[in-house]
Amino acid sequence: MRVLGIESSCDETGVAIYDDERGLVAHALHTQIAMHAEYGGVVPELASRDHVKRVVPLVHRVLDDAKLQFQDLNAVAYTAGPGLIGALLVGAMAARSLAFALNIPAVPVHHMEGHLLAPMLEDNPPKFPFVALLISGGHTLLIHVDRPGSYKILGQSVDDAAGEAFDKSAKLLGIPYPGGPGLEKLASQGDAQAFHFPRPMIDRPNCDFSFAGLKTAVLNAVHASDNLERDKADIAASFTLAVADTLTHKCERALKEMGLNRLVVAGGVSANRTLRSALQDLMVKRGGEAFFARPAFCTDNGAMIALAGMLRFKAGQVGDLGVTVHPRWPLSELKAL
Ligand code: KG4
Ligand code: ZN
Repeated sequence: MRVLGIESSCDETGVAIYDDERGLVAHALHTQIAMHAEYGGVVPELASRDHVKRVVPLVHRVLDDAKLQFQDLNAVAYTAGPGLIGALLVGAMAARSLAFALNIPAVPVHHMEGHLLAPMLEDNPPKFPFVALLISGGHTLLIHVDRPGSYKILGQSVDDAAGEAFDKSAKLLGIPYPGGPGLEKLASQGDAQAFHFPRPMIDRPNCDFSFAGLKTAVLNAVHASDNLERDKADIAASFTLAVADTLTHKCERALKEMGLNRLVVAGGVSANRTLRSALQDLMVKRGGEAFFARPAFCTDNGAMIALAGMLRFKAGQVGDLGVTVHPRWPLSELKAL
């Protein structure tokens, strides 16, 4: 069976086809980075209009790449939330209409479930149960995952998400949107020991995070510097180390509490090499295993939606004829599979 997946929750249009026997057979992505860069961030209305332009050509592209016809599809999955309402509606409308025309089910998918399952697209996929660290632009979550669809939140950010901290700190350092990848590049030239930034909430006996204070510490370092050109790579590297230490500490706590030794790390921020190696080191130290998606599947993409859509489709959890999206949608509301 084959599921077409459509992602359009923010600034990337992603389309892919997942085959339950062959795995991922095609994927394509259009990123709107160049379009939004001029404004320093995502402009929702421009995002929606661009998804309208991109989605149909991308669907044709993946069908061509996979040498498949529309008739070869068994379901069409789409990101139903969380995300920007206009952007979500474009993907939902496209998916729902295509499914209606082909007389096959449309499958609404939770964007964060897509991220969480993305490491299963790789060789050596994680076995259940595991602890998942989801770090994206809008979310920082530690989750106990018994099986697909069963998500027990162990901790989350009480203020900024990890990606937001990267993006805001990047802005303070004069790095253009999107901040995360630019900050990583700058940090690679810096000394992570040069500044000592706080490791927020590390002493609290829970799995929650707070990144707003770290951003303020970066702001103070920027203001205190008499030569920002000289210091900015050191600030970027020291900031990244503070985030890495904090995430590592909380992951270790969650693994201990759950008595587990498998850690899945997903979401846009998990593309960061420093964070990946810190979490990898943690799992080596514990004699466990860390699982990541390839960097292109850490950030938004259609492949993760096609995969999550396949699991929901097989469980009979398909949508009705309505086009429903959920700009806000707690992961814990999902049905287990
Ligand atoms: O998962 P994602 O693509 O979109 C959301 O669902 O939010 O995550 C985007 C976030 C942004 O905050 C971006 O700056 C961050 O992921 N990000 C990174 C890197 N690549 C993307 N942060 C740090 N290092 C990176 N290499
Ligand atoms: Zn995302």
